[in-house]
Amino acid sequence: MFLTEISITRSVQTMRMIGKPTSSLLLLLLLLFLPAISATAQPFACDPADSTTKTLSFCRTDLSVKDRVKDLMGRLRLQEKVKLLVNNAAGVPRLGIRGYEWWSEALHGVSNVGPGTKFGGDFPGATSFPQVITTAASFNASLWEEIGKTVETDIWSETKNDTLLSSSSPTYWSPNVNIFRDPRWGRGQETPGEDPVVAGIYAARYVRGLQGSDGGDRLKVAACCKHYTAYDLDNWGGVDRFHFNAKVREQDLKDTFDIPFRSCVKEGKVASVMCSYNEVNGIPTCADPKLLRRTVRGAWRLNGYIVSDCDSVGVLFNNQHYTSSPEAAAAAVIKAGLDLDCGPFLAVHTENAVQKGLVSEAEVSEAVANTVTVQMRLGMFDGEPSAQPYGKLGPKDVCSTSHQELALEAARQGIVLLKNDGPVLPLSRRRHPSIAVIGPNSDVTLTMIGNYAGVPCGYTTPLQGLGKYTRTVHEAGCADVACANDTLFGGAIGAARQADATVLVMGLDQSIEAEFVDRAGLLLPGRQQELISKVASASKGPTILVLMSGGPVDVSFAHNDPRIGAILWAGYPGQAGGAAIADVLFGTHNPGGKLPMTWYPQEYLDNLPMTTMDMRADPSRNYPGRTYRFYKGPVVYPFGHGMSYTSFVHTIADAPKAFSVPVDGRHHSNTTTVSSMSIRVNHAKCERLALRVHVDVKNTGSRDGSHTLLVFSSPPGGDWAPQKQLVAFEKVSVRAGGQQRIGVSIRVCKYLSVVDRFGVRRIPMGEHGLHIGDARHAVSLEAQTIGVIRS
Ligand SMILES: *[C@@H]1O[C@H](CO)[C@@H](O)[C@H](O)[C@H]1NC(C)=O
Ligand SMILES: *[C@@H]1O[C@H](CO)[C@@H](O)[C@H](O)[C@H]1NC(C)=O
Ligand SMILES: *[C@@H]1O[C@H](CO)[C@@H](O)[C@H](O)[C@H]1NC(C)=O
Ligand SMILES: *[C@@H]1O[C@H](CO)[C@@H](O)[C@H](O)[C@H]1NC(C)=O
Repeated sequence: MFLTEISITRSVQTMRMIGKPTSSLLLLLLLLFLPAISATAQPFACDPADSTTKTLSFCRTDLSVKDRVKDLMGRLRLQEKVKLLVNNAAGVPRLGIRGYEWWSEALHGVSNVGPGTKFGGDFPGATSFPQVITTAASFNASLWEEIGKTVETDIWSETKNDTLLSSSSPTYWSPNVNIFRDPRWGRGQETPGEDPVVAGIYAARYVRGLQGSDGGDRLKVAACCKHYTAYDLDNWGGVDRFHFNAKVREQDLKDTFDIPFRSCVKEGKVASVMCSYNEVNGIPTCADPKLLRRTVRGAWRLNGYIVSDCDSVGVLFNNQHYTSSPEAAAAAVIKAGLDLDCGPFLAVHTENAVQKGLVSEAEVSEAVANTVTVQMRLGMFDGEPSAQPYGKLGPKDVCSTSHQELALEAARQGIVLLKNDGPVLPLSRRRHPSIAVIGPNSDVTLTMIGNYAGVPCGYTTPLQGLGKYTRTVHEAGCADVACANDTLFGGAIGAARQADATVLVMGLDQSIEAEFVDRAGLLLPGRQQELISKVASASKGPTILVLMSGGPVDVSFAHNDPRIGAILWAGYPGQAGGAAIADVLFGTHNPGGKLPMTWYPQEYLDNLPMTTMDMRADPSRNYPGRTYRFYKGPVVYPFGHGMSYTSFVHTIADAPKAFSVPVDGRHHSNTTTVSSMSIRVNHAKCERLALRVHVDVKNTGSRDGSHTLLVFSSPPGGDWAPQKQLVAFEKVSVRAGGQQRIGVSIRVCKYLSVVDRFGVRRIPMGEHGLHIGDARHAVSLEAQTIGVIRS
């Protein structure tokens, strides 16, 4: 999004004017908006009180959505249709249809980024959950869905009261499910991390929660998976996302970048996909029929609309010079399968494009029909708004106790314990009656909610959270995360000398990593490292380092420093982050989060242009490869790392040693099918083909705790395969001394397959290793021919 800043400024100004009744402009504004303020919940279309429209077929809820859309399309004129192709869609008064703002955001709570949602009046804020990277670290798929549901409830509580200051739009352009490919990416924080399987499951579960999962065609909210695809660069080395041409191999597209989007559409049944700003192999994604029409709508069968990123149609014409005329740009995107433009471009140029014969009116209608269908599924053409879901919700339901409790619980579940020597943690009130709380992030509010947030219900900062447990002495140590000088070091060192324990809350914020801002390196900014080391050597008691950041930080110095007893990563933990951090430090909550991305050392970047998309390592050019799946070098902390105050042991209780993959006999003798000892996935009989494994998880420590079982597979040889791949994960709570048997079902075609150089998905035959913690198991896959072999 990049109209974002403009819209924020605009709404801030409006607020200011309302707060300060001084100008005559204010009077004008009030007069203009007064009808909207006093009107409660006007219908979007098909007002039963409007005798001219209520009898129209598209208003008849007894007809199918398909027939209603067809009826409406038959009534619309070209000039009206083209004005429906943009986020700020114009009304069609003669048909009783109001204007509509499509753009709202709900990445981790209802957000006011985007003009469709504003806070104020009865709705000063909404529950602000942890940033997605933190929630991902919980590895708890039911939590992801639960957060989606809660956000949906917040949305409806606000939407119902359709006044000027509340939200009026049930279409949300969230979540962001791009792969966190490069650790420098400023927006990595918004994503569920580097693993395609985790990102895919996150996408499906969050979307199901947000849209309402009670099946059927009806939507409570329309979510959107973005930004399709190979989009994870904002501004690096003189290249920005508006000019970036991502050169992507078919193999990487199919087995990395596509996976979360495919899962979002096929399993999450998302109502929308957003194409990105960048080009992929020379074609802007929003103008690429192979990506949009053939893949998203064709192969994955999107039931919904495809939207551009904000002004990306303008960007592909003005910045990328993809076409020679604006009409040709309009035609190219519509032909490629785009249905809605976030930005004005299509409303301005599409009519001329039709007149010039570059795109047909039928193609325009197809796009409009896709967006209108989603509006109908949302109930926007059903007339009476009170008939919509959640009739009884209102202001009291936003920021309710249970919603705020879930925000706290999500933060607790997402916090990752990286180091705990001694162990120094958990702290105790008895042994640590006073603690020094130090660092630029030790008393922050806004920093905790990350980007694409809203206005939270309230905050608990780390200092406030710790203050509930023990006496605190606060010293910032650095004025801000940039930590440009040591002016405040003395006070911090003094406090650490006196206190019974020292907690340093350090790390990053949106000035270091954000939209438009990729990081330059992986080390802590400015003189933070120096402050940490000096404080640690002066501390009377144990020193604990707490990090807030979206991306990984190279904290090898702290890991190797024996005076730093423990390290905790909190990501951006949301409105209740400080309370969650305190609960973990004092052991009220036993940490169970795991890193959803690799923490690389700074040297990893030495030969790694951010613009190189290749996932696989290439030793011939010293290219290290990306993510735990392909990079074999040293790490600070690996993907999946995360400790607990108790200990767990796994044993594989039962798992098959051999497994037959049924293959259609007509293909078996065909050498292109079983080449290099592998079977093409689309030649195997995949339905319900799953490997069942049972694992015993024993809690061998003295505290209750939760544990995430991460099941990795390593496919048999071939440099086309990842060295290992997460194939299943399951979070369980186990009481101290207790044991639980977990059944894991691994879908063979989906998870044990790999993609070859040509982009073809195959199941390698032979020995696949399964790794679960220290436990190892080998299972041999063999092809079993079904049906006739024609020689
Ligand atoms: C909407 O908010 C206004 C202002 O607080 C209130 O008077 C009205 O009752 C609310 N309407 C509904 C339908 O809840
Ligand atoms: C130290 O940094 C702070 C914040 O950037 C600044 O306000 C202050 O003037 C600096 N002090 C010195 C002595 O440079
Ligand atoms: C192999 O199978 C493919 C897909 O069914 C088919 O198109 C091709 O002609 C076959 N090749 C041979 C040599 O039989
Ligand atoms: C997963 O999250 C849900 C929702 O917060 C919670 O009820 C459940 O206990 C969590 N599972 C584990 C194993 O922690």
